[in-house]
Amino acid sequence: MNKRPISPALETAADRLRRGGLVAFPTETVYGLGANALDSRAVAGIFEAKGRPRFDPLIVHVADPAAVRGIVTKCNRKATQLIDRFWPGPLTLVLPKSEIIPDIVTSGLPTVAVRMPDHPMALELIRAAGVPVAAPSANRFGCLSPTTPAHVREQLGDRIDLILDGGACAVGVESTILDLTETSPVLLRPGGTPIEAIVPIIGRVTMAHERSDRPRAPGQLSSHYAPRTRLMILSDEAPDPAACHRAGHLCLRSPQLDVPATRIEVLSRSGDLREAAANLFSALHRLDNLGLDIIYAEQMPEAGLGKAIMNRLRKASAAFSSTAKRPRFHDNP
Ligand code: TXA
Ligand code: MG
Repeated sequence: MNKRPISPALETAADRLRRGGLVAFPTETVYGLGANALDSRAVAGIFEAKGRPRFDPLIVHVADPAAVRGIVTKCNRKATQLIDRFWPGPLTLVLPKSEIIPDIVTSGLPTVAVRMPDHPMALELIRAAGVPVAAPSANRFGCLSPTTPAHVREQLGDRIDLILDGGACAVGVESTILDLTETSPVLLRPGGTPIEAIVPIIGRVTMAHERSDRPRAPGQLSSHYAPRTRLMILSDEAPDPAACHRAGHLCLRSPQLDVPATRIEVLSRSGDLREAAANLFSALHRLDNLGLDIIYAEQMPEAGLGKAIMNRLRKASAAFSSTAKRPRFHDNP
């Protein structure tokens, strides 16, 4: 297959993976924390390093569309059409799992989530390792996703074998997840591939209940992607000035609401939602590191990547609602 020489860093990373180690690597969406998907012990290490509950299954990454055949038992017509159109890219497909994938990867589900990332380093790593790579986002469970190597180092630096540096992630939000095991496809997570681009190819897509804490996908918790700082989404009104202490303000092209903020983060001056998605987690990490009392986020248009952005902001704010359980990491920053 791939006979081109690869860099020593990639060679080392691939070797670590083959030997059961944990390697953080760049993808076009966010950094992943990879382990050999065929090695249960190695995969167990991912759950430990992240502090992730075992009921939250992982995505298996492949470097070639044909590799999906070894991982799933059936690749139906819709799956083939989507793979042809969107891979490599930020689209994860849930399909019936083959025996070769250990139960720990899928949390005992009869299905497996699989995707081919669109990042040369990720693809070279998977090819060089010669195995499918199970990888969640490389952050502590429930916390902000990493879009730079520094983000990974902050949360997981002392818990993993190495971090491959591929710079900042171009897409910046996680892949779209589509369950193709039912008669009608179900959107489990809006992400880097806009649903508007998927529907013309496979027809109607059912939306999973985004806000349910009894999710059809065990990992679709309503509270997730959360900064340590409380986050609140502003709808049409600015917050009561008396309630603001040291506040951060996250907006799309310029502040639309009058918030007395210590720091303003603009996601895209031109209002481009792709650019905004690419900047989202970095902006949240910066705000989160300022030790503010609150982060106010303005609503963004819910079209294209705006859906993924608002999904992440809602989950981040849900982490601070009275009913949601905050991830343990928050108590121990
Ligand atoms: O862009 C991405 O998808 C990144 C990069 C690293 O590829 N990965 C990522 O993984 O976001 P993670 O683990 O943070 O999110 C994966 C989600 C989880 O919420 C999990 O519940 C869901 O995928 N998932 C995995 N396997 C599933 C399955 N068999 N059925 C339903 N949902 C599944
Ligand atoms: Mg994640």
